[in-house]
Amino acid sequence: MKDRLILGIESSCDETAAAVVKNGRVVLSNVISSQIDLHTLYGGVVPEIASRKHIEKINQVIEEALKQAGVTLDDLDGIGVTYGPGLVGALLVGVAEAKAIAYARRLPLIGVHHIEGHVSANYIEHPDLEPPFMCEIISGGHTHLVIVKDYGSFEILGRTRDDAAGEAFDKVARAIGLGYPGGPKIDKLSREGNPTAIAFPRAHVEEAPYDFSFSGLKSAVLNYLNKCHMTQEAICEADVAASFQQAVVDVLVDTAIRGARDYHMTKLAIAGGVASNQSLRKAMAEACEREKIEFYYPSPVFCTDNAAMIGTAAYYEFLKGTRHGLDLNAVPNLKL
Ligand code: KG4
Ligand code: ZN
Repeated sequence: MKDRLILGIESSCDETAAAVVKNGRVVLSNVISSQIDLHTLYGGVVPEIASRKHIEKINQVIEEALKQAGVTLDDLDGIGVTYGPGLVGALLVGVAEAKAIAYARRLPLIGVHHIEGHVSANYIEHPDLEPPFMCEIISGGHTHLVIVKDYGSFEILGRTRDDAAGEAFDKVARAIGLGYPGGPKIDKLSREGNPTAIAFPRAHVEEAPYDFSFSGLKSAVLNYLNKCHMTQEAICEADVAASFQQAVVDVLVDTAIRGARDYHMTKLAIAGGVASNQSLRKAMAEACEREKIEFYYPSPVFCTDNAAMIGTAAYYEFLKGTRHGLDLNAVPNLKL
């Protein structure tokens, strides 16, 4: 079969990214321009600033991705772009750019669901991984447990009722003064703390066994910090970080393993920014070994937002015949 080269474009939040992917699995380039430094000043992503920065960077990032891959627009077989969910102004930059290139070069245009992209990140480094498998998607905006039935085909078993796992990390990090984005900072600080120092709750949703809820845990951390301030009790930030992280990890591991067991899945993957958490990776690997489940996880650079995962997802959509017209629009609350 002829080699297929897809240019992936991602601009749903605060990363402007472009990548060239061969046959869905081989990443020829993966360029990411992060805006984190800009948003850190405000303690979170400012949508208007994100859109403006995407416009400034997108052409440069695409040129760099083509250059690093050693290809030109003429070599491409298709353009894949995230069209939702995400910040509407940010998504529009990538979508408009992808449409312009597709129109000018008469290339197939493939809109990609951001979550399908995260799941697909697992295909990049695991040539043996094929559906069906269980996948837990844990990012700043989403927490889902799904069965990946086929490429781009999902059965959703559970989702968060309130905060996403990454959002909880970010909010708790802000409360203990670590700044944005909180996940990597809590991950690092936790290594110096005691994960059993403070008993934070592990929430389970009674009537929906695969759903998640993290807002109660976040409130418990905030209440603990307030109580310490009121009673002038010293706060050990590392213990708070480690105990909070352990509570999240316990719930994520328990739910994913229970799902895999209940649905007789022999393969389990994790995806999204929180999937780069060291403590989670270790705990999930141990649990999978105990249960004789094969465990898959992407390298950290493919866990957080990137365009290689979009190129990979677009390739499998391309094979299925998915094509979008020039009326493709950004859909901020696109459903999986
Ligand atoms: O997948 P992602 O880059 O963007 C979304 O689609 O949301 O995920 C970003 C989220 C942020 O909330 C960030 O704090 C979290 O992933 N994150 C982590 C780690 N690295 C990133 N959370 C826990 N531990 C980490 N090492
Ligand atoms: Zn993401």
